Amino acid sequence: MERSFVMVKPDGVQRGLIGEIISRFEKKGLKLVAARFESLPDGRVQEQYREHLEKPFFPGLKSYITSGPVFLMVWEGKNVVPIVRLLVGATNPAEALPGTIRGDFAIDIGRNVIHASDSNESAAREIAIHFKNDDLVGYSAIA
Ligand code: CMP
Repeated sequence: MERSFVMVKPDGVQRGLIGEIISRFEKKGLKLVAARFESLPDGRVQEQYREHLEKPFFPGLKSYITSGPVFLMVWEGKNVVPIVRLLVGATNPAEALPGTIRGDFAIDIGRNVIHASDSNESAAREIAIHFKNDDLVGYSAIA
């Protein structure tokens, strides 16, 4: 089964957008299989964003992500990674289309509300950083 890792960032949590975000994914037909509130430790932020460690914006990204609780989720479904990316919108909210989460709720690339895996490989890696296999629920088929 295909899975994606999604994180509502501290600005999204503080602005009360968790319910709206979950609702959009649920209405699309995706299944929430794990969720947890957490204040991320520095080490896991570095693992999560390892490809950005040397970027000039990384110190700001790390202090923003650790500035308050985040809401970590795993979503499941056919083509879930590209579907979630489509619903989330472009990384830079100035380029995100209306109707997407970032297009509707953000204006600043440094406060872009939500993170979503960009490939199946990233999803597997990111899920393993934040969740154990036992944390993921299974849905039995309804007869
Ligand atoms: P995200 O999808 O979580 O993946 C990497 C994050 O780095 C991205 O969203 C932005 O929040 C952040 N980011 C990327 N580029 C920049 C930038 N130029 N300035 C500040 N933050 C950035």
